[in-house]
Amino acid sequence: MCGIIGYIGPLSATDVVIEGLESLEYRGYDSAGLATIEKNKPIVLKQVGRVSGLRKIVEQSKLKTTIAIGHTRWATHGGVNLKNAHPHTNLDNTIFVVHNGIIENASDIRSKLEIDGYRFVSDTDTEVVPHLIDYYFKQIDDFKAAFEATLRDIKGAYSLVALSQSDPETIYAARLSSPLVIGVGEDENFIASDPSAIIEHTKKVIYLDDYDVVVLTKSSVEVSNLKHDKTKKPNIELLEYDNEQALLGDYPNFMLKEIFETPAAIRNASLGRALPDKNLVKLGGLENVSEQLKYIDRIVIVAMGTSYYAGLVGEYLIEEMAGIPVEVQLASEFNYRDEPFSRSTAIIAISQSGETADTIAALKKVEDYGVLRLGIVNAVGSSISRITDAGVYCHAGPEKAVASTKAFVAQVTVLNLLALKLSEGKTKRFKPLLNELLLLPDKAQAILDSIDDIKKLADKYYGYRDFLYIGRHTSFPAALEGALKLKEISYIHAEGYAAGEMKHGPIAMIDKDFPTFAIATDSPLLDKTYSNIQEIRARCGPVIAIATIGNSEIKKLCDDVIYIPKTETETDPILQVIVMQLFAYFISMKKGFDVDKPRNLAKSVTVE
Ligand code: AGP
Repeated sequence: MCGIIGYIGPLSATDVVIEGLESLEYRGYDSAGLATIEKNKPIVLKQVGRVSGLRKIVEQSKLKTTIAIGHTRWATHGGVNLKNAHPHTNLDNTIFVVHNGIIENASDIRSKLEIDGYRFVSDTDTEVVPHLIDYYFKQIDDFKAAFEATLRDIKGAYSLVALSQSDPETIYAARLSSPLVIGVGEDENFIASDPSAIIEHTKKVIYLDDYDVVVLTKSSVEVSNLKHDKTKKPNIELLEYDNEQALLGDYPNFMLKEIFETPAAIRNASLGRALPDKNLVKLGGLENVSEQLKYIDRIVIVAMGTSYYAGLVGEYLIEEMAGIPVEVQLASEFNYRDEPFSRSTAIIAISQSGETADTIAALKKVEDYGVLRLGIVNAVGSSISRITDAGVYCHAGPEKAVASTKAFVAQVTVLNLLALKLSEGKTKRFKPLLNELLLLPDKAQAILDSIDDIKKLADKYYGYRDFLYIGRHTSFPAALEGALKLKEISYIHAEGYAAGEMKHGPIAMIDKDFPTFAIATDSPLLDKTYSNIQEIRARCGPVIAIATIGNSEIKKLCDDVIYIPKTETETDPILQVIVMQLFAYFISMKKGFDVDKPRNLAKSVTVE
């Protein structure tokens, strides 16, 4: 899940590419590189590590060029080193390629080309592309045809951008599964993995479909499709958001900024949708399938990571309020198992980025099953929002930090609204929950206002090497999410467990060096959670509890308690995770880690 970009036009192409790569860096930050052509002489600059390193090299080079392509890498094939950094080239350095995705048949192609005398300098799958283009170009002497012949040979997922010394005024690009968008300018054009890299320059974008091939000059955009073998009339769309939202402002990093945007995320996810005065839930994005929704008798939620945990909360909400059986499956497992589907099944894909390859593949798997495909997505215009039949945007705004925070909260808010919608008002939870959704932003703000207490807690516990997170009912997925946050950004071993499951194994790990985060907010199951806390205490395990304001009893049971405002069990995870996000945040900061770009991770995982 790398970030790629290309530019052709009057501006300094290397500057445009570097700025674009900086905004794409959340997609991967193992190495960065670019290729450009100056007075018909190709120049490739690469650097292991962050884009900031490449920016220094480019500034020293004083290049003034009008065409360039660039890449920031998340290593899939080949170690993190200079020879594996993109762009990759052919032997005589006349063809340059940047790639996001995985070429599954790269080793076959490589062995064939090596028989033809091609020599490879890197361990990447991508390097087969410039050599294969070279192979066909030597035969056909038409770069576009050679590019298309190459695309017909490679298997897997790709967004590719290519540059050729023989054609220094043109950028070639193609997409299959991995995201790619064109930015249309005046006398200039852009291509990038996502709009955030080009929004500074234009809001006119063309979202590419699978098998699309692009020929870009500064004054023309040609899009054709390999599968349908015809030139397409590109559909130019206008980006509805500005870049302001994606900027850091006065915050030290995006993670803290996005946690502090949680009240707004809840508000925006409910705005115009939770209408207690009218005793109504309005989800405009589902209106075109409202008839089909009436006949749904099974729901399968597919997602990955944090979105999967939001789905697990959704399972409780939809089953208990709408009475429709729900299964939540990891998309990566869903994709390769056989199971029966009836037409009255709906698939709900949950995704912040809308570009997660496993989740996209899940939607493609059921493409011809005649089932309803719905999406709960944050990124506007993303692949999942365009593949699904209908859906609900989370409206949490751009989320740049790798660790998802406000998006989870917006997803659970939307899942509450969806469960109420599917209940057709029949659940007795309808009115109280609609009212509660409108009160939540202030309750979330109250937790943010008690941030110092959470920081103190993190300062006390940051030295521990292992943590257990436990919860019951909707707090179980919240415990899973809390553990994931700690793992992701502080690299501490943490496990989330259903509190009742703990004594069936995990309790064996408990001792004085293995703290437990117990989610113990007011609920009909609180006494059960108390017993689990007692079991841990009996093994000298330190316990931190998240409890509801007013619960003085729990203080006697735990080492530390973080109090949060009272809410409903359906909305409890929304408030509970804010505490655990901040706990993980402060531990990571205390350890001096880069909270926005944790090691080995990337924001949207565009490879399976
Ligand atoms: C969460 O903090 C991680 N970034 C990761 O688990 C993420 O939730 C997962 O990759 C799914 O991403 P999506 O919501 O964009 O599909």
